[in-house]
Amino acid sequence: MRKKIVAGNWKMNKTLPEAKQLIQELLSKVNTENKVEVYIAPSFVNLPEAVEQTKNSDIKVAAQNMHFEDSGAYTGEVSADMLKAIGVDKVILGHSERRAYFNETDEMLQKKAHKAYEKQMMNIFCVGEKLEDRQAGKHFEVVKSQLENALFSLPMQAYKNIVIAYEPVWAIGTGETASPEQAQEMHKFIRETLAKKYGRDLADNVRILYGGSVKPGNAKEIFSQPDVDGGLIGGASLDADSFNAIIEAAKN
Ligand code: PGA
Repeated sequence: MRKKIVAGNWKMNKTLPEAKQLIQELLSKVNTENKVEVYIAPSFVNLPEAVEQTKNSDIKVAAQNMHFEDSGAYTGEVSADMLKAIGVDKVILGHSERRAYFNETDEMLQKKAHKAYEKQMMNIFCVGEKLEDRQAGKHFEVVKSQLENALFSLPMQAYKNIVIAYEPVWAIGTGETASPEQAQEMHKFIRETLAKKYGRDLADNVRILYGGSVKPGNAKEIFSQPDVDGGLIGGASLDADSFNAIIEAAKN
């Protein structure tokens, strides 16, 4: 049985006082009852405080990105060791905004995925097609190549710490969601692709999250699909009530 995950990707939102306030509200509302894993991913500058505030709670903290080198002349970048030193051992990699606006390629993401594995960090790895890919009927092909290029050089044991997030780019921040059937169809395809490469057992144990305009009103239906193991939530994770409602929807 795969435990569901609800992860909040805060993107470039919330100053330190605002982040503290939101975490405070979450701590007073969220009760996972051990039925769902809850992560939040604030910006780098707010991570140490977020770790401090959520210690001894059910909310775990993730970063939104990291570099693939350990240290060196990479102005503006943050390494895995830096994250681990402040108690962060989870990271979102390959978000479509990183790919689109910051030119992250499959090649870079492969290095980041290997670094996350080497450093024993949970890798919440994002894949997803653009609108034109879907319109051209290439969505399966695109997602398959993103998986193959970045993840398929990893050994089986790496997948103990990998969560895949399927986020169709056309559904992110647009208010448009994939239908539950579209989500299920792609999640199943991702699981089959993993099964072909690594075997059924491994594929059945990897959690695959859906992301893209998940809201309290549509979460339950999306999460009830057999291959959807929770969600990566952007906009709706910035408000404690709506994020908590999505967490509630993920409890079986
Ligand atoms: P959204 O973002 O929920 O605001 O669509 C999801 C994401 O980008 O992770």
